[in-house]
Amino acid sequence: MIKINENFLKLKQNYLFIEIAKRLKAFSAENPDKPLIRMGIGDVTLPLPAAAVEAMKKAADEMGVKETFRGYEDTGRGYDFLKEKIKAYYNENGAEISLDEILVNDGAKSDSGNISDIFSESNTVLITDPAYPVYVDSTIMAGKQIIFAAATSENGFKALPDYNIDCEMIYLCSPNNPTGSVYTAEELKMWVDYANEKHAIIIFDAAYEAFIRDKSLPRSIMAIPGARTCAVELCSLSKTAGFTGTRLGYTIIPNELMAYSENGEKVSVLKTWIRRQGSKFNGVSYPVQRAAEAVFSTDGRAQIQANIDYYMKNAEIISNTCETLNIPYTGGKNSPYIWLKAPNGMSGWDFFDYLLNEIQVVGTPGEGFGENGGGWFRLTSFNTHENTAEAMKRVEKLLS
Ligand code: MLT
Repeated sequence: MIKINENFLKLKQNYLFIEIAKRLKAFSAENPDKPLIRMGIGDVTLPLPAAAVEAMKKAADEMGVKETFRGYEDTGRGYDFLKEKIKAYYNENGAEISLDEILVNDGAKSDSGNISDIFSESNTVLITDPAYPVYVDSTIMAGKQIIFAAATSENGFKALPDYNIDCEMIYLCSPNNPTGSVYTAEELKMWVDYANEKHAIIIFDAAYEAFIRDKSLPRSIMAIPGARTCAVELCSLSKTAGFTGTRLGYTIIPNELMAYSENGEKVSVLKTWIRRQGSKFNGVSYPVQRAAEAVFSTDGRAQIQANIDYYMKNAEIISNTCETLNIPYTGGKNSPYIWLKAPNGMSGWDFFDYLLNEIQVVGTPGEGFGENGGGWFRLTSFNTHENTAEAMKRVEKLLS
């Protein structure tokens, strides 16, 4: 008799954003005359930058010609033309990395969960709470133990290391999804020192680094001294360049990063990950890699910056509404997410229903990101100016 992996039975019935999509579908079916303003899932609304579109078209043409057609990419880890650009970008952000340490993938979500495969089931995983639900779900799927580190208003939504706690894997996300908080270089150094002392590995999710406007804040953990012996970094063009539907991200694994076998021998994390990917991943399509390369060109950089500025203007509109209504909030300054306290002691889910039913504005209930998200609510700045302004007008009227 075929047996199911019992770890999957420990998961919540639905992935958070699928649960929300289900509720929205039901609402829209019952209320076809009430269009929704979606500020829930972090999906972008602006089209791909022109430079990326042109590059993708050109690459598609090349694929249709015998002389320039490409099949499998040699390694499945990304073409050098793209990795050179990523390497240069990291250097600009104060991190020296080499081409072989860059692994191109189909977005940060896959690797943030899959990386768990190469670490023992006996490892304990520390996850800040609230957190992007993928870290928790994939740790449960992998059958590993979780310890939560509280990120609350008391610590500015930034959990810091506690040396009394032992763990082997640590998920950090900065700028944080969902709270929008950003670790300073000093705070990241505290995590790096802790991880090195505990022989633990930090999985650092930098998917929102492009939204950091304060130049004193680090965009990459790889810029922090000591990180090369304790950190893996995940990054993505999903929000940076509108690639949510195009799919391209990259993982950085330093050559020095080691884990240990049962008999205490050092094992290269990079080599083990490459071995895993060799069997389970065949790479990202050539046209998408060319589009990504174009994102890092001078024109591409200017175009994505204009889009990021557009979204950050929306973040300002949302933040202003929170201020007008005296609602405690965080984020929105160096992050596309605004994390706000649900008013009148409501739970995040109650507030979700209230906004949906009364004014058809969709956000994400904090409970979906963990226990400490209870009573909080996340709004994204990824909608249009018009919709964001309209949504905030409705919120102000409803809550005034
Ligand atoms: C989110 O809304 O938290 C993100 O969009 C989810 C994702 O990128 O996978």
